[in-house]
Amino acid sequence: MRKTMVAGNWKMNKNLQEGVALAQELTSALKGTTPRCEVVIGTPFIHLATVAQVIKDSPIRLSAENCSDKVSGAYTGEVSAEMVKSTGAEYCILGHSERRAYYHEDNELLKEKVLRALENGLKVIFCIGEVKEEREAGKQNEVVKSQLEGSLFNLSDEQFANITLAYEPVWAIGTGLTATPEQAQEMHAYIRSLLASKYGEQRANDTTILYGGSCNAKNAAELFANPDVDGGLIGGASLKAPDFLTIINAR
Ligand code: 13P
Repeated sequence: MRKTMVAGNWKMNKNLQEGVALAQELTSALKGTTPRCEVVIGTPFIHLATVAQVIKDSPIRLSAENCSDKVSGAYTGEVSAEMVKSTGAEYCILGHSERRAYYHEDNELLKEKVLRALENGLKVIFCIGEVKEEREAGKQNEVVKSQLEGSLFNLSDEQFANITLAYEPVWAIGTGLTATPEQAQEMHAYIRSLLASKYGEQRANDTTILYGGSCNAKNAAELFANPDVDGGLIGGASLKAPDFLTIINAR
């Protein structure tokens, strides 16, 4: 049975003290419990080392939201995958549409970032998804396929075992416009079929595919009820402990 997961992506929200307070709130609520899904929080780089200490005796796992495509050296302002790993983080979110849109990260660059993360023992939550115009033109499958082929399909089956996918239709992120459960299921099943063609049925069945985009405490259960939706990557609703906990319990 593949792993189910609810992961938070804090994006560029919360200063260090606020982030620690949120991590403490989640830790108190989840300590000693066994959530039905894996629980991950993705925080800004500067929070990682401190939050790692806060959550260390809880079931919560830690993720970065990005890492460099370079190994080390004179790259002012960059943070390497090795540095991320040294904080205690286990995961790295890569390929988020905000990184693609605002920081011009393309498939080729993301391919390098994925390799750096894996080389350093990080697991990757890799985001894919189409923009509104692409969905309106019926091109969503094509877009998602080229994102997978361009950044991940160079990986061996063994490497791919460390990838969690997140289907995040860009038109649904932060807009309140959620994909319908049918749209999510249809795309997740399509993604799984692509994985089956490339890596075989076993890997396709074992790969966790999350939905992201205005997933919240109210609609999570309906989205997660679909057979190919293995959980969620949550933005806004991961910033409030009660909402995030409701979503975790919906999985
Ligand atoms: P929202 O949940 O705020 O729409 O963000 C989704 C997202 O981008 C998670 O990575």
